[in-house]
Parts: sequence; C-alpha cells; structure tokens
Amino acid sequence: MKIAVLGTGNVGQTFVEKLISLGHQVMIGTRNVSETVGREAFKEWHDKHPLALVGTFDDAVKFGELVVNATKGEAGLSIFSGLNKTFLGDKIIVDVSNPLDFSKGFPPTLIDGLHNTSSLGEELQKLVPNAKVVKTLNTMWCGLMVNPMLINDGNHINYLCGNDAEAKTKVMLLLNGFGWKNESLLDLGDISNARGTEAVLPIWVRIFGATQNGVFNFALVK
Ligand SMILES: NC(=O)c1ccc[n+]([C@@H]2O[C@H](COP(=O)([O-])OP(=O)(O)OC[C@H]3O[C@@H](n4cnc5c(N)ncnc54)[C@H](OP(=O)(O)O)[C@@H]3O)[C@@H](O)[C@H]2O)c1
Repeated sequence: MKIAVLGTGNVGQTFVEKLISLGHQVMIGTRNVSETVGREAFKEWHDKHPLALVGTFDDAVKFGELVVNATKGEAGLSIFSGLNKTFLGDKIIVDVSNPLDFSKGFPPTLIDGLHNTSSLGEELQKLVPNAKVVKTLNTMWCGLMVNPMLINDGNHINYLCGNDAEAKTKVMLLLNGFGWKNESLLDLGDISNARGTEAVLPIWVRIFGATQNGVFNFALVK
C-alpha cells in the first residue's frame, strides 16, 4: 500500500522504517523538503532508509492511500488546515499525535482547549470531515507502537477510536501487521473518546519521569 507519514521526528521515522520493512511504499511529509534533507540527523537516517520518499505534507497526502499523523501536537491542526483537501479526500488518517504543551518544561501539560471537553483527535476530525480519523497508538512510546511484542509477549493495551467502523477495521489489520493481537485492541467508540486516550499522557509522562524508562505500557486486568 502507498502510505503517507506526516512528521519527520522519531515517531515518523519509526513508522516509515516499519512500514517499509512490511513492503509498503512510504512518503514522509515535512514542511520544507530541502531544509529537512539538509538536516544532518535526518540525512543520516535517510541514508539508512533510502526507500523512504520525502515530500511536502501535501505531496505525501497526495501520494498516500492512508495517512499517518505523526506531527507535533501543537502544530497538527494548522498543518491539516493548510492541506489541499482534494488530496486528502476521504482517506483514513491514523492519528498518533498528542496535544502536549512543553512550553513550561517537563512534565508537559495538555494544550488548553484540547482536553477534557475536547481533544486533538476530534478537532482534527471536525477540520477534515470527509476524512476518517482513527486515533490509536498515542498512549505509548513509538518503539512499542510498531513492535508490541517487545514486552510481555505483546499482552498490553492499545485503544482505537473513530467515527467510521470500516476505517477502524482497516487500521486494526495494519496494527495486526505490526504484531498487535486482536485481544490487545480495544475499540472505545467514536472519536470523542480521544479525550480519554490523550488524557493518558499526564500519567504516562510521570511514570517515565519516575522510572526513566519509556518501554512500558498498560494492560487491562479484570
Ligand atoms: N515520541 C514518542 O514515542 C511518542 C509517543 C506517542 C505519541 N507521540 C506523538 O507523536 C507526534 C510526533 O512526535 P515526534 O517526537 O516524532 O515529533 P515532533 O517533534 O513532536 O513533531 C515533528 C513533526 O512536526 C512538525 N512540526 C513541528 N513544529 C511545527 C510547526 N510549528 N508547524 C508545522 N509543523 C511542525 C515537524 O515538521 P518538519 O518536518 O518540517 O520539521 C515534524 O514533521 C507528537 O504529537 C507526539 O506527541 C510521540
């Protein structure tokens, strides 16, 4: 499948590597291609993963049949509002971003207006009503998102939410390809449930702060 990964940070790079290893064609999206490929760290990464195509956010969305949103939480809505909506159409957006505000240092807070009575996932869905936003994987470190078998034999929880049942089923298949077992996937319902999954972050960052280890996840024990 042709997949757009918006975001050139750790998360975007981790997704690109995994998707290429699974045989997908991938374009990573950025604000300014020449500036990004000129960055030493990005260049070093791209030299190791030359199959990754690099384009603007619009180029990537036009290329992809499915779009992964791995952009900075505070920038995500303005990135999507600036996209050419014809390219985006009714594509699935796998949204792994979090509305984190690091302006006052660590631990970050959730961005004002994007928590409790709203969320980044649902504001994104409102902004692109024809697209199908599926919020998932945002509650864990990116290494685990694409390699769940790294811990506890893959027995830990990953939530999904979104308004379109068929889109969630397609995303579940993609997640199965990463190693997620169906019994580890919990469909919470519509996109407003992103209020819950994004609100996992305040405790996640504190566990990380206390243990200095991000390779953990939560499990449902009944
Ligand atoms: N790190 C993790 O393990 C983890 C886990 C769960 C969720 N997440 C979430 O995943 C997302 C990506 O995280 P990350 O650490 O890989 O990268 P990041 O540094 O949060 O975001 C990088 C991307 O955001 C774009 N960006 C940053 N500021 C921008 C601005 N002002 N305007 C437009 N675009 C801007 C960058 O564009 P350029 O390419 O042009 O520089 C880049 O593509 C975040 O929402 C994060 O909360 C991360």
